[in-house]
Amino acid sequence: MAAAPGLSDFYHLIELDTVGSTSDEVARLARAGAASGTLVVAHSQTNGHGRLGRSWISPAGNLYFSLLLRPACRVGEAVQLTFVAAVALADALSAVLPADRTIACKWPNDVLVGGRKIAGILLESEADGHGRVESLVIGIGVNVSSHPAPEAVMYAATSIHAEGAADETAHSTLGLFCHAFQRRYDEWQSLGFEAVRAAWLSRADKLHQRIEVGLDAGTVAGTFVGLDGSGAMVLEEGAKRRLILAGDVLPSAA
Ligand code: BTN
Repeated sequence: MAAAPGLSDFYHLIELDTVGSTSDEVARLARAGAASGTLVVAHSQTNGHGRLGRSWISPAGNLYFSLLLRPACRVGEAVQLTFVAAVALADALSAVLPADRTIACKWPNDVLVGGRKIAGILLESEADGHGRVESLVIGIGVNVSSHPAPEAVMYAATSIHAEGAADETAHSTLGLFCHAFQRRYDEWQSLGFEAVRAAWLSRADKLHQRIEVGLDAGTVAGTFVGLDGSGAMVLEEGAKRRLILAGDVLPSAA
């Protein structure tokens, strides 16, 4: 598991042709004792999945990868790594997309270009017996050369090629992400969440706008006013402030 050319030795790259899910593969490797930095990338997936049990359509030409980390923190704190990954993806995309494209982070785990989803992030963790992280898998799908048709997905989608960077490949996009992620992850480890939180908020989709959020228990509406120090969404409803730990910002509010 040597580092590929262009990737620092923080990463241990495993390249596969087709796999069920890179995240399932990394979770399996984690249980077998794989090191932090293990990175599985596949050309296509037959069982790619996203949040809330949704499937992630995974044809060749786009980027599918999962990274194993073993951060020394509690499981609740590790949720912040979704934001670290989102900001790193936005950094990577801003290096290749035309300057007039608006790259935004949608709470909690999507990256949008011009309001359309270009990448999704799935965080899955296992705890030790004391609520600390044993292993954490960050799975990321980026639409590089194609994106799902509108009728196949709940949210409008786009791709790096559709946004005007036709020379980019899954491989080049992975290299840009890995470079940006290592910098943001180091920052998070040494300085805590604040710098990442500020970077995420500077790109937040629908900040200060009225939104609807789907929760397990129904739908709530309010103004999205920020993130708290743990990454929870702060939603203001009149004089009331609600913290949302998990949910889905609904497209009807788009
Ligand atoms: C989402 O938007 O709900 C998150 C999508 C995450 C998809 C990626 S593709 C690589 C990795 N393997 C998976 O099965 N899922 C993630």
